[in-house]
Parts: sequence; C-alpha cells; structure tokens
Amino acid sequence: MSLDDQRTRASLRESEEYYRAVAEAATDAIITIDSDSIILIVNPATERIFGYSSEEMIGQPLTMLMPEYLRHLHKAGIARYLENGQKHIHWSAIQLRGLHKTGNEVPLEVSFAEFTRDRQRFFTGIARDISERKRLQDKQARLARHAVMHAEVSAAVSESEKSLRAMLQICAAAVVTHLDAAFARIWLLDEEVLQLEASAGLYTHLDGQHARIPLGSFKIGLIATEQKPHLTNTVQTDERVSDKEWARQEQMISFAGYPLLVEGRTVGVIAMFARQPLEADVIEALASVAPIIAQGVERKRTQDTLRETQRELAHLNRVMTVGELTTSIAHEINQPLAAILMNGNAALRWLALDPPNLEKVRDSAELILRDGERATQIIARIRALLKKSPPSKTLLDVNEFVNEVVDLLQSEMVRNSVDSRVECANDLPRVPGDRIQLQQVLLNLIVNAVEAMMTVEDRQRRLLIVTDTFSETGVRVAVSDNGLGIDPQTANHLFDAFSTTKPGGMGMGLTISRSIIEAHGGHLWTQANDEFGATFQFTLPVVANKS
Ligand SMILES: Nc1ncnc2c1ncn2[C@@H]1O[C@H](COP(=O)(O)OP(=O)(O)OP(=O)(O)O)[C@@H](O)[C@H]1O
Ligand SMILES: [Mg+2]
Repeated sequence: MSLDDQRTRASLRESEEYYRAVAEAATDAIITIDSDSIILIVNPATERIFGYSSEEMIGQPLTMLMPEYLRHLHKAGIARYLENGQKHIHWSAIQLRGLHKTGNEVPLEVSFAEFTRDRQRFFTGIARDISERKRLQDKQARLARHAVMHAEVSAAVSESEKSLRAMLQICAAAVVTHLDAAFARIWLLDEEVLQLEASAGLYTHLDGQHARIPLGSFKIGLIATEQKPHLTNTVQTDERVSDKEWARQEQMISFAGYPLLVEGRTVGVIAMFARQPLEADVIEALASVAPIIAQGVERKRTQDTLRETQRELAHLNRVMTVGELTTSIAHEINQPLAAILMNGNAALRWLALDPPNLEKVRDSAELILRDGERATQIIARIRALLKKSPPSKTLLDVNEFVNEVVDLLQSEMVRNSVDSRVECANDLPRVPGDRIQLQQVLLNLIVNAVEAMMTVEDRQRRLLIVTDTFSETGVRVAVSDNGLGIDPQTANHLFDAFSTTKPGGMGMGLTISRSIIEAHGGHLWTQANDEFGATFQFTLPVVANKS
C-alpha cells in the first residue's frame, strides 16, 4: 500500500461524511446521547426499529426508548459511570429490551461506545433488532418440545398394560406440559354423549358441568359432529365459547379443539385452552397427535374386548373340564363323606359300651372333623374353578397349588388305572400368579395326559408331575405321560385354537393354557419322551415381568 493511499484512508476514517454514510446505511440503530442521556443523533434505522421519526426523538431523553422497568436502571447506571467509571452492564453485545412507539417491546442486542469532544462526554449505542432471531430460537425450542410431546403420546398409546383412562391422562398432561396449555381435556364418544375421560392442568376433575356433553351441543359437541377442528385466538369474544365471563376472569386467550377420528368415525375430542395466542406450529403439533390418540383409543378398546373374550373362553374351558370330571369329583367328595358316616357309627358304638370308651370316641370325632374339612376343601376348590372371577395375582407356592390339583384328580387316576406320582423340589421360590388360572393350566395338561393314555393297554399307565427351578429365575412344572405320544401330523398345530384329535374335544385346552402362561410372563411347550408319550411343561418367572 502506498503512502498516499494510507493517508487518504486515514483522512477518510476521520471524515464526518464517512461516518454519516455508514450510519445511514446501517441496519442497526445508532443513537448518540450526551451525558444527560438526551438524544442528539439518530440514524434512519433507529426510526425503523423504534417507530419514531428523528424529530420526535432528538432532544428527548433516551429513556423514552426503554420499557418502564429499565429506565431507573439506566439512569442510576450512567450516573455511577460518570462518577467512578464503573459499568453496570457489559458494553458489548448485551441483550436488552427496547420500547417501540406502539408500546410493544423489541428485543435488542446493544453495544456502547464513549467519546469526548470539547471536554464533553458522549455515548453512542448501537442496537440490533433481534426479534427475528428470537422468534426463530423460540420456535426451535417449541419444535423440540413438540417432538417430546409426540414421543410421550406415542409411548402412552402403545403401552398395553395401562388402562384407557391412564393412557389418555398422560396424553392430556403432555399437551399441558409441552404446548403450554392452561388445561387440556379429552372426551370419548359413548353412544350419543361425549364422556370426559382425562383432564390435566388447571382442572383435573372428571365430573361436573363438562363431564357429559351431548353430540352437537357446545363447542366440543360441535367439533365431534362436524368432524372439524375449532381454533381461536380470541376466546373472550368467540361466539362458540359459552362462558365468556369465565374466560375473562381466567385470562384465557386461545382455544384449540380437534376431533379424534378413526377411519372417518368420531371416537372423541381433544381440546386445550391457553393464556397466550396459539402459534401455527402449536396447532400443527396438536393436530398431529390427535390421530395417534384416536388410534390408541381404538386399539385399546379392541384389546379390551379381546381380553374379555379370552376370559370368557377360559371360563368356559374350566367349566367344561370340571364338567368332564364330575364323576371323579363326586367320588372324591364321596370318600370323606363315607368316612364320616363310618366314623360316626363307630363313635356311637364306642359310646354304647359300658363304660363308654371316650378315648376311641374322641379319635373318631377327630377323624370326622378331618374328613369334613377335606370335603369342604374339595367343594371350595371346585367352586373357585367354576366361578368367573377377575384375575388376581398373589405370590404362590407352586408345590401347594400343584398338589391341590393332583388331590382333586385322585379318583380320576384310580378310575382310569393311572399310576400318578408327584416329585416336588424343595425350597422353590414363590411365583406371582393367579392361582385359579394356573390350576386350570395344570388341570388341562393332566386331563390331556390321561386322555392320551386311554388307549394304552400293554403297559402300566404312568403320569409324572415334576416341579423344579428353571434357569435360576424361573420355576418349572412338567407333566409327563407314557401315552400314545404326539401325532407328528398335528405337532405344529397343538396350540392352535380348535385343533383337536379327539372326537369330543374342543381343541381349546392348550390354546387357553398357553395364553395364561404367557400372560404370566412364562412359556408352555411340549416335547416327545424317549420311549412313550409326551411331556408338557411350563415355566413361570419368579419376578413378575411385563409381557
Ligand atoms: N399329553 C398328550 N399326548 C399326546 N397328544 C396330546 C397331549 N396333549 C394334547 N395333545 C394333542 O393336542 C391336541 C390339543 O389339545 P387341547 O387340550 O388343546 O384340546 P383337546 O384336548 O383336544 O380338547 P379340549 O378343548 O377339550 O381340551 C389334542 O387333541 C391332542 O391331539
Ligand atoms: Mg385338552
């Protein structure tokens, strides 16, 4: 660079014109004030950012461009700086809020400079309008939260263990948390009425005025019948908002309601109120979760119906199995009753002696009590099996419930000339389970085993029931017979519904048994024995796990 060039540049830098040209072209506001904070010079960008003309600003205190709450901070700050040179804020790229002529606040990024001329001190502020940047940042933050809401809602609807209500409550809560709703609610259509199922935020009750809304009435009922969303950012004057007084008191600004639709059918409505206007992306976010929730509702209902049907079937299977066993069960009850009669007679005879043998009488009475107890137990177990009771899990002693079932089947074994044996492992851990359901499984397996041995005439029919631990975290129950074995043709379909090789069979026993075991988190499978027959076995996890 030549010396001349350098000189020209130096003078250019000093020239007022140069600075004016820069200030004119700048997109940032450039404001110069004196030490009394009176505005001396502003550039055109200042007019644009603050909405005042330069005439309106020049000669006025700088505080006119600040929101009320910043004014005294500025005054105190500048006074202290003039006194001792202490800056109360950073002078470079600090974020502050300015005040537009309309009264709206403008987010600004401000830097300051100081200069002295003729011993007077002046300050220049350069302020950049960062509204757009802020808006984008806010939007990005909102979009991130919407993604979280999406994930929470998706997780809630795919969780099969939760009740429908619990699932909807999570969805409503996610809307409140991530869309900044004052409150959110979900109604489901039941016949002609929308029933409030979930409520999160300001209100959490599910009863009261809005608990049941007839189709077509109020804004919620209209959303359901029209199958169109209703959106407003002017709740306090909206014709569809019936309680405007409430909206004013609670400072509600916006409302968004979406129908929950599945293949063109309304299954419910989701709605939210907010104390701020709704941005387009918030509305989009709500619109995008509505179909997910609707599908979730539908899936849950199908699941529940299926479960109910399975329960009905399982009950039917129990009733039928017990029905098949009536002869044996009657015999099983008859035994203690016969024994009671016998011991009763014996007691009378011991009493008739002179002197009566009270020792023997007491023995007989004790036997009578024992047999009475046994008959009562058998009847209680049969009744429990026949009852249609809701599933209930308790910690079970596996050996105990196995022996109870085997006990019940004693006469059945004798009647069919089956030699049965139980081998119980000691110290088995307890397993969480439904006693009746698990007994039903065992009953099915034993009845199948006995049936598989009916054609065996050339060898002793043997049934072996074993309990033991299985791979550390499970308990196994195995039922082995030496019957005709599994027919290779049907081996792959044993567990299918209605698959049977028996003339009177329904083919549901193994299907139901497997679904019961799997609902307990265990497995049921079969295996051919080395010589004769088959082994059917199931495992149960010691620690309840979800599946
Ligand atoms: N221990 C066994 N040995 C050989 N085959 C068996 C055994 N247990 C079951 N099977 C075969 O599996 C089929 C299905 O059994 P499942 O208990 O589901 O139905 P089912 O006994 O035929 O009828 P039901 O519904 O009355 O129980 C049986 O028909 C039989 O062919
Ligand atoms: Mg069967």
